[in-house]
Amino acid sequence: MLIGKPPDIPSSQITSRDAYFNYLSRRRFLKGVAATGAAALGAERLAELVSPRAALAGTKLQTVSSPLTTTGEQLTSFEDITHYNNFYEFGVDKGDPAKNAGGLPTRPWAVKVDGLVQKPLTFDIDDLLKLHPLENRTYRHRCVEAWSMVIPWVGYSLSELIKQCQPLSTAKYVQFHSYFNWHVEKWATEDATIMWPYSEGLRMDEAMNPLTLLTFGLYGETLPNQDGAPVRIVVPWKYGFKSAKSIVEMKFVAKQPDTTWNDQAPNEYGFYSNVNPNVDHPRWSQKTERRIGLPFYEQRRTTLMFNGYGDQVASMYAGMDLKKYY
Ligand code: MTE
Repeated sequence: MLIGKPPDIPSSQITSRDAYFNYLSRRRFLKGVAATGAAALGAERLAELVSPRAALAGTKLQTVSSPLTTTGEQLTSFEDITHYNNFYEFGVDKGDPAKNAGGLPTRPWAVKVDGLVQKPLTFDIDDLLKLHPLENRTYRHRCVEAWSMVIPWVGYSLSELIKQCQPLSTAKYVQFHSYFNWHVEKWATEDATIMWPYSEGLRMDEAMNPLTLLTFGLYGETLPNQDGAPVRIVVPWKYGFKSAKSIVEMKFVAKQPDTTWNDQAPNEYGFYSNVNPNVDHPRWSQKTERRIGLPFYEQRRTTLMFNGYGDQVASMYAGMDLKKYY
């Protein structure tokens, strides 16, 4: 992200190893089907077997639809969502997390909720998955680096979890910590200036906003490790770095917490980091963005204030100078 690098090769021009082997196995399978007769297989099983996602990702999740989903946008492919990532614990190049995150131990997994709450609780991941119906929520995902995707996430509003823990009135912010272990995430040393674990934070009203998603999956299946398995935060009106991956702790606090990129360069990565085409990053414009996976001539598009979610979130910032609190 965030560190000057030569321009990335457009992900549309990269064929990953997984995609390549998938392609081969699909071809082999389809040849077999042609020989034996597809009618012998149920339509659903057939779709599952030929889906490029089936061999890559985890378990299917039972989901319900959501009125908060974004409609009318072409979804970014599973291949791009899972092979063009920022997850610095696993390396700084976009393809590194897909290559290196296989060893992330996603079971057993616990999320500790503590700090200024009446009920400090530790949730096992399997209990979290059952806490509330899992919704399909497609959101635009806008990185501070001026690229974007459209991702069909699976999860439920973070507020459902927060309610269980009953924050005290003195709790003004919530801080998230990602999993960190030098043995598992040895690539993290590549950027030795970052203080691990990765940390992010939201104001209480932002955390309670129904759009803020406690996220367990994408494309109807459990999250691939490189996208923040087994549970991450997604805040669609903010730049992507506010959405901490693989979280193990949520702490309710009275003061604005320290957060990873804000600590690194406060003039470049504000605590709020609401998507805002009127506030440029000191080193590049935020007026437009590049939609990953589209043909080159269709990629460039205008960045929307609050990433297009202003109707749901703008009132939280009424009266604030968004140039000062960027
Ligand atoms: N969370 C952790 N733990 N480590 C990271 O490096 N990168 C952030 C965010 N969450 C990051 C993280 C950034 S910069 C972005 S843009 C998004 O994750 C990327 O999410 P994606 O790879 O699923 O698109």
